[in-house]
Amino acid sequence: MCPPHTSCTQPQPQPPARTLTPTLPRNHPSTPHLANLNEYHDLYQESLRDPDHFWRAMATSALHWDQPFHTTRHGSLEAGDHAWFLGGRLNASYNCVDRHALATPDKPALLYEPDTPATSQARPQQITYAELLREVCRLAWVLRDLGVRKGEIVTVYMPNIPEAVVAMLACARIGAVHSVVFAGFSAPALRGRLQDARSRVILTVDEGVRGGKTVAMKRVVEDAVGGLRYGGEEADVQCKCLVVRKTGSPVPWCQQTQDAWWHEECARWPGYSAPEAMGAEDPLFLLYTSGSTGKPKGLLHATAGYLLGCAVSGKYVLDLHPADTMFCAGDVGWITGHSYSVYTPLVLGLATVLFDGTPSFPTCARYWEILARTRATHFYTAPTALRLIKKGNGNAYAAAAVHNLERLRVVASIGEPLAANVWQWCHDTLDGQVHVLDTYFQTETGCHAFAPLAGVTPTKPGYVALPFLGFNPVLLDPVSGAEIRESGTEGLLAFDQPWPSIARTVWGDHARYMQTYFAQHKGYFTTGDAAFRDRNGYFKVLGRVDDVVNVSGHRLSTGEIESALLSHGAFAEVAVVGTEDALTGQALVVFACLKNDLEDQKTKSQLRQSAQQHIAKWIGRFAVPRKVFLVDDLPKTRSGKIMRRILRKILEGEENEFGDLSTVNIPFP
Ligand code: WTA
Repeated sequence: MCPPHTSCTQPQPQPPARTLTPTLPRNHPSTPHLANLNEYHDLYQESLRDPDHFWRAMATSALHWDQPFHTTRHGSLEAGDHAWFLGGRLNASYNCVDRHALATPDKPALLYEPDTPATSQARPQQITYAELLREVCRLAWVLRDLGVRKGEIVTVYMPNIPEAVVAMLACARIGAVHSVVFAGFSAPALRGRLQDARSRVILTVDEGVRGGKTVAMKRVVEDAVGGLRYGGEEADVQCKCLVVRKTGSPVPWCQQTQDAWWHEECARWPGYSAPEAMGAEDPLFLLYTSGSTGKPKGLLHATAGYLLGCAVSGKYVLDLHPADTMFCAGDVGWITGHSYSVYTPLVLGLATVLFDGTPSFPTCARYWEILARTRATHFYTAPTALRLIKKGNGNAYAAAAVHNLERLRVVASIGEPLAANVWQWCHDTLDGQVHVLDTYFQTETGCHAFAPLAGVTPTKPGYVALPFLGFNPVLLDPVSGAEIRESGTEGLLAFDQPWPSIARTVWGDHARYMQTYFAQHKGYFTTGDAAFRDRNGYFKVLGRVDDVVNVSGHRLSTGEIESALLSHGAFAEVAVVGTEDALTGQALVVFACLKNDLEDQKTKSQLRQSAQQHIAKWIGRFAVPRKVFLVDDLPKTRSGKIMRRILRKILEGEENEFGDLSTVNIPFP
């Protein structure tokens, strides 16, 4: 228990009754960065009480600056003009590569595990820091040669392969902004993202390989680019496309893109190119994510604040040390991959494992095998993957192989709540030798906003524990917007002061940024999630309060899927809702009204199928709805707004608990 803190403004969080007090796992090379929970409380309070002093010290020690900053913090959440480390200049690729290549050139930076498992004796493919520096520099030359300038957006459409990391860092080296588009997106979805970013250079592969199947990624790019026009321009856009030869299958060069092979271009350039000194607030990347409306938004992250969030959360939450190896199974196309496969391990100078396959191919033992082969100390994944492994008898393998995982000491999960039974399974399967953490963050927060600190914070299964440094969470009453101060209650989760790694804007639409996060509750950043705070100050995230659905850790907007379905032609109206699913967390269900009455059952089943195929074509296979119901009408308010809440209740078999229906037109009997 912690002694009362004189500096606390709120009741001091105490470890809850049912917790697992962290013990030092075997073979831990060093003690955690913090000695105990009291040190966390002190540091946390300091981060809120004197953010200028706190973050100045953190930024100075964690990052290499070409020019020191003069102002630590500027602006406010209310004005949406928050900015950090003004006057400072630095380069993200220098921070992630050069300084480690100088100090430890032969240290592995990337370990690559391809979809098809290598023979058990073969060592994982390894790229050292010195090699990474050469690859990044060569690509930086190529990008410059392709005409890419500072501030320009380069689209990266690649699976989790080393070249994707090289691509991100080469952009950062020359001051270009990377926009990584998840490899599961279809051509129209990629096209929408290219169009929004007005991107003219695309980095991709001939084919991806996932779960034993090939995906013709270059062809998807070709389809996305065909006839692409940017607003105000008469002619079709001529994109330049650099292609990694991965499978070696023939790929036809196309007319709309000026194509070249990655390896041929890179071979023409020297292995060093000086990094560009960027302003602290210059954008590092934009990443498209789903929101409440159909149009995905490109969240823009600033160089220094984002990198600092990665460095500090990696150190304190994950308890990373120089000899550690991180296996984050998140895809580079999402924020987890950006933050915890790429920037966190590299800014801290560690080895990171890249894997472009699936957790169940060829068997559910795959993740354990990778952890054993790479001798990883940290494993970061989504609860959906853990549930899949649990179901696929991955525990039998783990139990047998636990002696091969002797370096593993932290298993962290992200993306949805880690249910108590899965937490327990993980803990027991690994012989109680690892810290199992449920962490919470968002594309918007850049780094962890809540998490137990490995080896320091007692964990409570089902809870994301305590706020991370710099995050002051509040629960807001959804109706009045007032702060709820009592514990043992739930409310809308918001933060009341800016932190360095907060996304700075929505690309090209600052008004949408303000509207989405700051307008409804002035002076707060609203997360879009509801949360519960227990009597000990521990938080549990209850789920989204908007139209965002989380399927297998993929954040999807029901609005985006609805707009895609409306382009199908057969449907007059559609509503997409998320329903609980034991494996994928949530699953998508569509309620669709046909334009014309179709009595024939066969036709209806064909229509259901074609609706699913349409989503696969327009968004991607990972977004295909579990079920499509063809209905006569949709429940609406008198003003015509579709009542998704009622559809969810129907799916949950709770038709009798609709709540107040006085303003609703219900088409169901
Ligand atoms: C959800 C993913 C419950 C949440 C890193 C959030 C979680 C959204 C947790 C962000 C957790 C993330 N418990 N829910 N531990 N972690 N979420 O932007 O709804 O793809 O708002 O970032 O995932 O999804 P995003």
